Amino acid sequence: GGIPPGVPISGLLTRDGVHGGGVLEEIHLTINGQSVHCAPGTTILDAARSLGIAIPTLCHHPDLKPEGACRICLVEEETAGRILASCVTPAAPDMAILTHSPTVLRHRTNIVRLMMANHPESCVVCDQGNRCTLRAVAADLGVGAIDLYPMKQAFLLEEANPFIVRDLSKCILCGRCIRADRELVVVGAIDYHYRGFDARPAAVRGKPLEKSPCTFCGTCVSMCPTGALRAKTLGYAGTPERWSETVCGFCGAGCSLRLGVSGGRVVDVEPSKRAGTVNRATLCVRGHFEHDYLQASDRLTSPALAREGVRTQVPWGKAVSFVVQ
Ligand code: FES
Repeated sequence: GGIPPGVPISGLLTRDGVHGGGVLEEIHLTINGQSVHCAPGTTILDAARSLGIAIPTLCHHPDLKPEGACRICLVEEETAGRILASCVTPAAPDMAILTHSPTVLRHRTNIVRLMMANHPESCVVCDQGNRCTLRAVAADLGVGAIDLYPMKQAFLLEEANPFIVRDLSKCILCGRCIRADRELVVVGAIDYHYRGFDARPAAVRGKPLEKSPCTFCGTCVSMCPTGALRAKTLGYAGTPERWSETVCGFCGAGCSLRLGVSGGRVVDVEPSKRAGTVNRATLCVRGHFEHDYLQASDRLTSPALAREGVRTQVPWGKAVSFVVQ
């Protein structure tokens, strides 16, 4: 193709090294003994995923620039014995990567143990419930009750605004909310504040969200891998039994979203995870939080014709014929 050699390309080649109709200067490496070819700039994480090898992640999100904040995605480079964060490390020629070596698992487990020591033991009353990624990663690594001294979390629940509840005691400082706000929503309402145990994502000068430029689009809520951010409108409504793909009904932008349903009721709303949607990982405040009309008892569920001030419900066929006439 027309891409000069040496230009970083994030994206994978096929296994025969062909991409976009041209042959690029490819990198060859092995991951868990399997051979893979990829374009320069491809991260070890993406190269592993192209082979179907799962590496756990917390701060990584495909729509955000990699940050390397949580270190859960560690892998071992076998030749040099180096431990690398796979989400931010580009693949290099002749690397021999191990994703689940005893050393990797030991480090990964210790990182999760430290996170859990800094996390409240409130899973049973956390709205995130079975959707918490930290809990899923801990369960996969066999981390349950931990023997580390638990760190006290003195953050107060922030719930004055009508849309988002923040419980920063559950924040793991992955920065996904901050990067989503900066890179996708482009508002810059929040950033890291303070240092050490006091570090947290917050609005300028620690002001409440409602006194910041935050548009309450809720992108940070759907990005949060724990229960640190949740939608106030749907709080404790239940864990979805199934997800339904649909299009937002509010405006003509056609944002794709998915509705979490339990017992015939919508209990969660997220941007769709499908590739190529117009809204990617974002929604607006209405698309994210204003779906109570779906369950309104007086919701219109069939067309109606208004004649001389009297509105009568009619079948769709009749309504469409009337409009056509
Ligand atoms: Fe790689 Fe967080 S997922 S450092």
